[in-house]
Amino acid sequence: MTDVAAKPTDSLTVRDNRTGKEYDIAISDNTIAAKDLGQIRLTDDEPGLATYDPGFVNTASCRSAVTFIDGDKGILEYRGYPIEQLAEKSTFLEVAYLLINGELPTKEQYETWVHEITYHTFVHENVKEFVQGFRYDAHPMGMLMASVGALSTFYPDAVNISDAENRHMQMVRMIAKMPTLGAWAFRHAQGKPFVYPDNELSYTENFLSMLFRMSEQSYAADPRIAKALDVLLILHADHEQNCSTNAVRSVGSSQVDPYSAVAAGVAALYGPLHGGANEAVLRMLRRIGSKENIPAFIEGVKNGEEKLMGFGHRVYKNYDPRAKLIKKACDDVFEVTGVNPLLEIAQELEKIALEDEYFVKRRLYPNVDFYSGLIYEALQFPPEMFTVLFAIGRTPGWLAQWNELITDKEQKIARPKQIYTGDRQLTFVPAEERWA
Ligand SMILES: CC(C)(COP(=O)(O)OP(=O)(O)OC[C@H]1O[C@@H](n2cnc3c(N)ncnc32)[C@H](O)[C@@H]1OP(=O)(O)O)[C@@H](O)C(=O)NCCC(=O)NCCS
Repeated sequence: MTDVAAKPTDSLTVRDNRTGKEYDIAISDNTIAAKDLGQIRLTDDEPGLATYDPGFVNTASCRSAVTFIDGDKGILEYRGYPIEQLAEKSTFLEVAYLLINGELPTKEQYETWVHEITYHTFVHENVKEFVQGFRYDAHPMGMLMASVGALSTFYPDAVNISDAENRHMQMVRMIAKMPTLGAWAFRHAQGKPFVYPDNELSYTENFLSMLFRMSEQSYAADPRIAKALDVLLILHADHEQNCSTNAVRSVGSSQVDPYSAVAAGVAALYGPLHGGANEAVLRMLRRIGSKENIPAFIEGVKNGEEKLMGFGHRVYKNYDPRAKLIKKACDDVFEVTGVNPLLEIAQELEKIALEDEYFVKRRLYPNVDFYSGLIYEALQFPPEMFTVLFAIGRTPGWLAQWNELITDKEQKIARPKQIYTGDRQLTFVPAEERWA
């Protein structure tokens, strides 16, 4: 408890009506430190006041200089650079460098970075056997999650997370190998032989080659497709403290190796409310089937029978800037592949929803997943692969956040509080007596 008269300006005065005591709590960066609430207590032997925040809807878990989002205005910046400029003028590998290192590379730094990533695309032959061990119908996301985690056993030195050079090496390896693992998960499901990386190709061209190459000497992707995929990876590269990044940080806070932490991120991304939403969007569009069925579908959503997948966002209460850029990428891809017939339904659905009071009132706009599935489908990806593409794109973001966590002196092992609602002090009766 402090002297109210002497309170500093940047503070919050809290009066506990249970005791009549007042407390001054410092405000910094528009937040109060949750631990400062701990001083508010009824008696000395009771726990102090805590906050209850399922899903962390209004709790900052870290300080971060990686990604800025203004959800009300629909702004997304990586290290201060607007996503629109990066999508138009940069490359995925340059963005990955930016996210991890905090600034854009010089020419020399960029060339070294690309060289490093390119020459770490191969994985140990045992990884191949490991991937081949999955059942023929294994979901590629489950395979990716397991194989990224398995990489920790190939690089046991990765536990040495206090060594910056070592961290750099693991981050390079992971960005380099994710497309190889993702492509092999895809080929396994198709019963096709695995394609080794082609180090003559760019990051995205090589990924396409590992996915689609058959008997040709070298796979030449259409440059418009390679560029569109590169843009999609950029758009997914980071999104501050989302569910999977929080998983990476939470698991990483135990100081486990980064492969295990990223495997946790892949696991979180697997869920339909996170990375799985674009797959759900396609299923929904197919189910709607034609434009005439849209009003009945919208009624069902408004009655709470289901959700309009690809709409709504925890942070964006405006049009997701990535959704706008994806819509643009749709045009480039459809120029090569022909228009996906579901696009018409999606556009009409968007038009109706944006004018409907239910969605307007709740500020529900299309998110990144609304159109991305349509592009992926046009690129011949089966829906199970959509989240794998997301994971490959998100890897530099996970790693940038993990690296920031490891070097942040304020961070501690993640360990939230709970409000206990169960029984207490019961008397245990042995089974033979209970069942007698
Ligand atoms: C993304 C999402 C999980 C965010 O959830 P959230 O921040 O917890 O938001 P809430 O669930 O509290 O939603 C607020 C209100 O909007 C409604 N709402 C949110 N998303 C909706 C959607 N896609 N369709 C219909 N109603 C929706 C909720 O039912 C709630 O209504 P209520 O106030 O009448 O109860 C949620 O919008 C969603 O499930 N969207 C569909 C899945 C999706 O596209 N995910 C990808 C995210 S990139």
